Amino acid sequence: MVSRVIPVDDFDLVIFGGTGDLARRKILPGLFRRFRTGQMPADSRIIGAARSELDDAGFRDLVREAVEEFGGEEKSDTQMLDQFLERLHYIAIDATGEDGWAALRDLMRDGVVQAFYFSVAPSLFGDLAERLHDHGIATPDSRIVVEKPFGRDLASAQALNATLAEHFDERQIYRIDHYLGKETVQNLMAVRFGNVLFEPLWNSHYVDHVQITVAETVGVGGRGSYYDKSGAMRDMVQNHLMQLLCLIAMEPPSVFGANEVRDEKLKVIRALQPVESHHIVRGQYEADGESPSYRADVENQRSFTESFVAMKCHVSNWRWADTPFYLRTGKKLKGRASEIAVVFKDLGHKMFEGDTARHRNILAIRLQPNEGIDLQVTIKEPGPGGMRLIDVPLDMTFADALGEDAESATDAYERLIMDVIRGNQTLFMRGDEVEAAWAWTDPIIEGWEARNDVPKLYDQGSAGPEDSMMLMHRDGRRWREIKG
Ligand code: BG6
Repeated sequence: MVSRVIPVDDFDLVIFGGTGDLARRKILPGLFRRFRTGQMPADSRIIGAARSELDDAGFRDLVREAVEEFGGEEKSDTQMLDQFLERLHYIAIDATGEDGWAALRDLMRDGVVQAFYFSVAPSLFGDLAERLHDHGIATPDSRIVVEKPFGRDLASAQALNATLAEHFDERQIYRIDHYLGKETVQNLMAVRFGNVLFEPLWNSHYVDHVQITVAETVGVGGRGSYYDKSGAMRDMVQNHLMQLLCLIAMEPPSVFGANEVRDEKLKVIRALQPVESHHIVRGQYEADGESPSYRADVENQRSFTESFVAMKCHVSNWRWADTPFYLRTGKKLKGRASEIAVVFKDLGHKMFEGDTARHRNILAIRLQPNEGIDLQVTIKEPGPGGMRLIDVPLDMTFADALGEDAESATDAYERLIMDVIRGNQTLFMRGDEVEAAWAWTDPIIEGWEARNDVPKLYDQGSAGPEDSMMLMHRDGRRWREIKG
């Protein structure tokens, strides 16, 4: 298959927090993959900026180790890795002081795209923005990239937006939600808006309900102190699950443009009804033999933070009235499985004699693992014996369908970084979207706090607390299985 990648201009990408975890795990190995496939223009440079006293050689060593530890099969291409490392530079910088800023200014070039990735704590966003401005480094065309958590409630998100807006226009700000960079998430839009088949059925006349599941097998790892102040609601629902819901529920934008897409997503968030407390289940994982409990993992024996949440939501508009959206996400569950399932309604009339089964078309969009889409359809069971019906999946696993191209499918981060360089904001969250998402989330969290809500305990390796099953059963529905 011929690769048709939109070329990018030469760039200088500065990564603040360039020696940090995200840079080592995702950003730098991802950029190497892009370099190796010839998608990074020859004169482009990556400049690590962090507090450590390193020089270019020390930073290159660190990046080599990061690629060896976190890279894929491309890491064996040592010749290319050497060439990539030559593109790297390093400046020791004090985000809250003055050291290093003059050196950074001297290093930056005119006439290339300038992007600054703030891979640091949000408390430093203001300091960085101010210094980039005061030292004459940022230009009106520079771009900044910021990571979640973007605030922890509406007030803090508004304050962050206001801080950034002091020095940068909205068109310069790229708020990353890495779920939007996943291959299948973009495919969701292609399937919806690129086929005649689905859009006529994409409404509450035909769709019984939608399920969005993001199940993880990992626990909170070494991020306990951050996570215990967030919980699944802030860490996953306010951003990743909300974005998935928006892409499913939004109206077709007139063109696939940054503001057109984001306008439509914003309308969905604003149409979300407040969630009633009996439509939400929170959970926390228990100890399991050697494997510690959530509370032990976060070193807070009195924690009431949720590591699991399931809820039923309604998008209150013409298209979706009466179609519930069920969301669930959690850690230490039985499988790493993320999918969106659009479950269509039953046929009104059964014409095949003796067929009493419930046949449902289900469009399942698998984000991970085995990225792909399958459509459950009803057919005649092959062979003799009359007209017996069975449900079978029409499976399109991308790896099967695309062969080698799927192998080289890019990771979310590298795709999004290249979009920054191209100046394409479609897959980034706009400030008003983030604020609207918090405005919907805040009352839910405040309700829990006011009631001292205690999460239900669940077994590690399960599908979450029993009550989350009841959330569905009460409505005569059930969750799709989380496959291990
Ligand atoms: C991050 C959350 O945004 O997404 C983590 O902070 C979570 O808690 C991660 O584990 C999941 O991302 P992915 O791409 O592995 O599904």
